[in-house]
Amino acid sequence: MDLDENRLISPELEDIGEERLENSLRPKTLDEYIGQNKVKENMKVYIEAAKKRGEPLDHILLYGPPGLGKTTLANIISNEMNSNIKITSGPAIEKPGDLAALLTNLAEFDVLFIDEIHRLNKSVEEILYPALEDYTLDIMIGKGPSARSIRLDLPKFTLIGATTKAGSLATPLRDRFGIVHRLELYNTEDLTTIVKRSANILDITIDETSAQEIARRSRGTPRIANRLLKRVRDYALVLGDGNINLKITKHALNKLEIDEMGLDEIDRKLLETMIVKYGGRPVGIETLATTIGEEAETIEDVYEPYLVQIGFLSRTLRGRIPLQPAYQHLGFEWKE
Ligand code: ADE
Repeated sequence: MDLDENRLISPELEDIGEERLENSLRPKTLDEYIGQNKVKENMKVYIEAAKKRGEPLDHILLYGPPGLGKTTLANIISNEMNSNIKITSGPAIEKPGDLAALLTNLAEFDVLFIDEIHRLNKSVEEILYPALEDYTLDIMIGKGPSARSIRLDLPKFTLIGATTKAGSLATPLRDRFGIVHRLELYNTEDLTTIVKRSANILDITIDETSAQEIARRSRGTPRIANRLLKRVRDYALVLGDGNINLKITKHALNKLEIDEMGLDEIDRKLLETMIVKYGGRPVGIETLATTIGEEAETIEDVYEPYLVQIGFLSRTLRGRIPLQPAYQHLGFEWKE
């Protein structure tokens, strides 16, 4: 995805430092994991049942916008199953041999986590099917007339696949997941709890209203909430005594050009384009992408989910349309 590297509200991981921060904040058990209650309750049952039966957990597909904790959840699941986890991603597995190497190195009940599973290569996907279904691997050795296929037995493992778009997964692949869950954007209450928990781990003093303010402007995404917390802490240290209060929080977030609704420049540009340039009429995603100079995929996966959630934008069959609250928020007159 072609995201502006400095975009504060990008839900993508920015760099190694941020990955380290995220790891230090990552809950280790389902009880520590905040929000996503439906997923959590179901997972508790499946994990307990699998343990009682002495069987591996069914393969799991997690989908939803980036930054909501899919990797975190995969780590927790393997932890709760007392197993190991191997983490990789669709684009990182280039050849069938890469996947074969990963699979043959797993131990019984291990978790293999494949992020961005919708980007798996076709030829890789094909050897994944029997691995998921019967824990076997058919690999070709040799070339030409002497080539032959050998079958290897694999340990009983659990695949956890993560994707931002379940729709672009091939049906045969999607059908091989026994458990499919969509992660939802977090509400402000859960995000507030996450901000306070992170502040506690990072030894930051923050009051309730400031935690709420950060939560409200984090577009439903823990990764963004944790990032904003860190930046606000910097302001608190430079402008005050290091403790975070509401005045400093608002000042910092305004400086970062994140508005009351958590929108940044690009969100506002997107909405403004729809309102002014296209007069609020339905506009296709590709046209919109070209007009504002972003990729259609980025708009769909990253920007839209939140704008839809807060009722600023609607996806219709004829295209995207801006809704009344977006006009009000940006100071445009709404015409019926
Ligand atoms: N940090 C990021 N996501 C979290 C979650 N869902 N619960 C607790 N801490 C988190």
